[in-house]
Amino acid sequence: MTLPLVLVLNGPNLDRLGTRQPEVYGRTTLGELEALLAGRGAGLGLAVECVQSKDADGLIRALAERRPAAVVINPASLTHHSFPLRDALAACGAPVWEVHLSNIHAREPFRRRSLVSPIARGVVCGFGPAGYIAALEAAAAWLAAVAKEGDG
Ligand code: DQA
Repeated sequence: MTLPLVLVLNGPNLDRLGTRQPEVYGRTTLGELEALLAGRGAGLGLAVECVQSKDADGLIRALAERRPAAVVINPASLTHHSFPLRDALAACGAPVWEVHLSNIHAREPFRRRSLVSPIARGVVCGFGPAGYIAALEAAAAWLAAVAKEGDG
Protein backbone atom coordinates (compact mmCIF):
# COMPACT_ATOMS: atom_id res chain seq x y z
CA MET A 1 0.00 0.00 0.00
CA THR A 2 1.37 3.44 -0.93
CA LEU A 3 1.40 5.89 1.95
CA PRO A 4 -0.19 9.29 1.33
CA LEU A 5 2.45 11.90 0.56
CA VAL A 6 2.65 15.01 2.70
CA LEU A 7 4.95 17.61 1.19
CA VAL A 8 6.63 19.87 3.76
CA LEU A 9 7.80 23.08 2.10
CA ASN A 10 10.14 25.63 3.64
CA GLY A 11 10.84 29.01 2.08
CA PRO A 12 13.85 31.32 1.90
CA ASN A 13 16.39 31.52 4.72
CA LEU A 14 14.91 28.57 6.61
CA ASP A 15 17.97 26.55 5.52
CA ARG A 16 19.79 28.70 8.09
CA LEU A 17 17.64 27.61 11.02
CA GLY A 18 19.66 26.98 14.15
CA THR A 19 21.96 29.94 13.60
CA ARG A 20 19.56 32.50 12.05
CA GLN A 21 18.25 34.81 14.82
CA PRO A 22 17.96 31.95 17.33
CA GLU A 23 16.18 34.29 19.76
CA VAL A 24 13.32 34.43 17.21
CA TYR A 25 13.51 31.07 15.43
CA GLY A 26 15.14 28.81 18.01
CA ARG A 27 18.15 26.54 17.77
CA THR A 28 16.66 23.56 15.92
CA THR A 29 18.33 23.17 12.53
CA LEU A 30 16.39 22.43 9.35
CA GLY A 31 17.97 18.95 9.25
CA GLU A 32 16.79 18.23 12.79
CA LEU A 33 13.31 19.56 12.01
CA GLU A 34 13.06 17.42 8.86
CA ALA A 35 14.18 14.31 10.78
CA LEU A 36 11.55 15.04 13.44
CA LEU A 37 8.84 15.32 10.77
CA ALA A 38 9.94 12.15 8.98
CA GLY A 39 9.76 10.24 12.28
CA ARG A 40 6.34 11.61 13.26
CA GLY A 41 5.09 11.07 9.71
CA ALA A 42 6.14 7.40 9.80
CA GLY A 43 4.24 7.03 13.10
CA LEU A 44 1.15 8.53 11.45
CA GLY A 45 1.36 6.30 8.37
CA LEU A 46 2.44 9.13 6.06
CA ALA A 47 5.26 9.53 3.59
CA VAL A 48 6.84 12.89 4.39
CA GLU A 49 8.99 14.67 1.83
CA CYS A 50 10.69 17.95 2.71
CA VAL A 51 11.78 20.62 0.22
CA GLN A 52 13.42 23.94 1.03
CA SER A 53 13.86 26.66 -1.57
CA LYS A 54 15.16 30.20 -1.55
CA ASP A 55 12.50 31.29 -4.01
CA ALA A 56 8.87 30.70 -4.94
CA ASP A 57 9.85 28.89 -8.17
CA GLY A 58 11.48 26.03 -6.26
CA LEU A 59 8.41 25.53 -4.07
CA ILE A 60 5.98 25.81 -7.00
CA ARG A 61 8.01 23.27 -8.98
CA ALA A 62 8.03 20.83 -6.04
CA LEU A 63 4.23 21.11 -5.77
CA ALA A 64 3.77 20.37 -9.47
CA GLU A 65 6.27 17.49 -9.55
CA ARG A 66 5.35 15.68 -6.31
CA ARG A 67 1.53 16.09 -6.49
CA PRO A 68 1.10 15.58 -2.72
CA ALA A 69 -2.02 14.47 -0.84
CA ALA A 70 -1.47 17.33 1.65
CA VAL A 71 0.91 20.25 2.10
CA VAL A 72 2.53 21.71 5.22
CA ILE A 73 4.29 24.95 4.37
CA ASN A 74 6.32 27.62 6.09
CA PRO A 75 6.55 30.09 3.19
CA ALA A 76 8.86 32.36 5.26
CA SER A 77 9.03 35.86 3.69
CA LEU A 78 7.10 34.61 0.62
CA THR A 79 4.08 34.53 2.97
CA HIS A 80 3.85 38.27 2.81
CA HIS A 81 4.35 39.01 -0.88
CA SER A 82 4.26 36.00 -3.24
CA PHE A 83 1.09 35.86 -5.31
CA PRO A 84 2.56 33.13 -7.57
CA LEU A 85 3.10 30.85 -4.55
CA ARG A 86 -0.36 31.53 -3.19
CA ASP A 87 -1.92 30.78 -6.60
CA ALA A 88 0.07 27.54 -6.93
CA LEU A 89 -1.02 26.42 -3.46
CA ALA A 90 -4.65 27.29 -4.20
CA ALA A 91 -4.51 25.36 -7.49
CA CYS A 92 -2.63 22.26 -6.30
CA GLY A 93 -5.79 20.46 -5.20
CA ALA A 94 -4.34 19.39 -1.84
CA PRO A 95 -5.24 20.84 1.56
CA VAL A 96 -2.64 23.26 2.90
CA TRP A 97 -1.52 23.92 6.48
CA GLU A 98 0.53 27.10 7.01
CA VAL A 99 3.20 27.17 9.72
CA HIS A 100 5.39 29.90 11.18
CA LEU A 101 7.93 29.29 13.90
CA SER A 102 7.48 32.79 15.35
CA ASN A 103 4.28 34.63 16.19
CA ILE A 104 4.00 36.76 13.04
CA HIS A 105 1.28 38.87 14.70
CA ALA A 106 3.61 40.05 17.48
CA ARG A 107 6.37 41.29 15.14
CA GLU A 108 6.76 43.99 12.48
CA PRO A 109 3.45 45.08 10.87
CA PHE A 110 4.43 43.75 7.40
CA ARG A 111 4.52 40.19 8.83
CA ARG A 112 0.86 40.32 9.90
CA ARG A 113 -0.40 39.99 6.34
CA SER A 114 -0.31 36.48 4.94
CA LEU A 115 -1.33 35.81 1.34
CA VAL A 116 -1.43 32.10 2.14
CA SER A 117 -3.75 32.08 5.19
CA PRO A 118 -6.97 32.69 3.17
CA ILE A 119 -6.39 29.51 1.15
CA ALA A 120 -5.01 27.43 4.05
CA ARG A 121 -7.08 24.88 5.95
CA GLY A 122 -5.22 25.76 9.13
CA VAL A 123 -2.58 28.18 10.37
CA VAL A 124 -0.22 27.74 13.28
CA CYS A 125 2.32 30.30 14.44
CA GLY A 126 4.49 30.94 17.45
CA PHE A 127 4.94 27.32 18.54
CA GLY A 128 8.39 26.74 17.05
CA PRO A 129 9.01 23.25 15.61
CA ALA A 130 5.97 21.91 17.51
CA GLY A 131 3.80 23.88 15.07
CA TYR A 132 5.00 21.69 12.18
CA ILE A 133 4.14 18.55 14.15
CA ALA A 134 0.66 19.95 14.91
CA ALA A 135 0.16 20.70 11.19
CA LEU A 136 1.32 17.19 10.22
CA GLU A 137 -1.08 15.64 12.72
CA ALA A 138 -3.91 17.79 11.35
CA ALA A 139 -3.04 16.62 7.82
CA ALA A 140 -3.02 12.98 8.98
CA ALA A 141 -6.44 13.36 10.63
CA TRP A 142 -7.86 15.04 7.52
CA LEU A 143 -6.47 12.34 5.19
CA ALA A 144 -7.80 9.57 7.47
CA ALA A 145 -11.27 11.18 7.47
CA VAL A 146 -11.27 11.45 3.67
CA ALA A 147 -10.13 7.81 3.31
CA LYS A 148 -12.92 6.71 5.67
CA GLU A 149 -15.50 8.64 3.65
CA GLY A 150 -14.20 6.87 0.53
CA ASP A 151 -14.64 3.45 2.24
CA GLY A 152 -18.15 4.23 3.42
C1 DQA B 1 8.61 32.95 9.43
C2 DQA B 1 8.10 34.37 9.64
C3 DQA B 1 8.34 35.23 8.39
O1 DQA B 1 7.84 36.54 8.58
C4 DQA B 1 9.82 35.30 8.09
O2 DQA B 1 10.04 36.03 6.90
C5 DQA B 1 10.48 33.97 8.06
C6 DQA B 1 10.08 32.94 9.01
C7 DQA B 1 8.50 32.09 10.72
O3 DQA B 1 8.66 30.89 10.62
O4 DQA B 1 8.28 32.64 11.81
O5 DQA B 1 11.43 33.76 7.30
O6 DQA B 1 7.82 32.33 8.44
